[in-house]
Amino acid sequence: MQDAPQTWHYGLIAKWWSEFNDDFRPHEVSYFQRYIERDGQPALDVACGTGRLLLPFLRAGLDVDGCDVSADMIHFCREKAAREDLSPNLFVQAMHELEPPRRYKTIFVCGAFGLGSTREQDFEALRRFHEYLEPDGTLLLDIEVPYADSKQWRYWMRKERGTLPEALKTARERRRASDGAEYALRSRIVELEPLAQRVTLAMHAEHWRDGVLQAQEDHRLTIGLYFKNELLLMLERAEFTNVIVQGDHNDNEATSDDDFLVFVART
Ligand SMILES: C[S@@+](CC[C@H](N)C(=O)[O-])C[C@H]1O[C@@H](n2cnc3c(N)ncnc32)[C@H](O)[C@@H]1O
Repeated sequence: MQDAPQTWHYGLIAKWWSEFNDDFRPHEVSYFQRYIERDGQPALDVACGTGRLLLPFLRAGLDVDGCDVSADMIHFCREKAAREDLSPNLFVQAMHELEPPRRYKTIFVCGAFGLGSTREQDFEALRRFHEYLEPDGTLLLDIEVPYADSKQWRYWMRKERGTLPEALKTARERRRASDGAEYALRSRIVELEPLAQRVTLAMHAEHWRDGVLQAQEDHRLTIGLYFKNELLLMLERAEFTNVIVQGDHNDNEATSDDDFLVFVART
């Protein structure tokens, strides 16, 4: 597989994130914030994107840096921060190549583990998180379980998988951005490999102004699919201790009904 993570968070998709994703899943923001406030600074937001979590944390006066593999996402994050007179320490780096300028009490990864990377790179990322945490530091890392999405889950079965790739669907409604232009995204599943535990998605993005199509882009994203026990073993191999698994960004032990799991691990 590739060396550079194959993620789709560039160009028009990065623009979409910066415009429309700030209010997405607010309970995630408060969940991570509680950990950072409880003796968890300084903190690093790995794969910070356009700052959905990072910006509220900076507004709250927390000492948090951010990194992301996509220079486009970091560009929008920096631009949004500057609009509020905030100047966070942001850097472009893939998580498996993480080399931050300082060590942290908390490193958190929200909605990004396994995106575009190989399993070897994912393990290397865990190893680096351990290396760049202080001795009494905490790693918070979430995953969406592979069985959360019933549409995707059915492609684990051979017969259903044979119908892939999905056809391009009709466009989602266009959304108007702050610059007056409109944007639309359409995603579809291209391939699912149960043995490798990997799904590949394709996204078609469009940019419209005054009813005229200005630009369109096609991007791909490969996602490594993890179950709880595999990740627990990887964390142990990366020398994390006292690992607990919480449910969907709440403080309860995870159950089979949780679509998201958060691994809370100590150095
Ligand atoms: C779904 S977005 C989540 C952004 C942010 N954490 C949030 O929750 O709003 C995923 C982000 O992960 C970044 N990303 C994907 N693969 C990465 C990698 N291997 N290393 C660092 N960042 C990565 C993407 O560029 C994108 O900004």
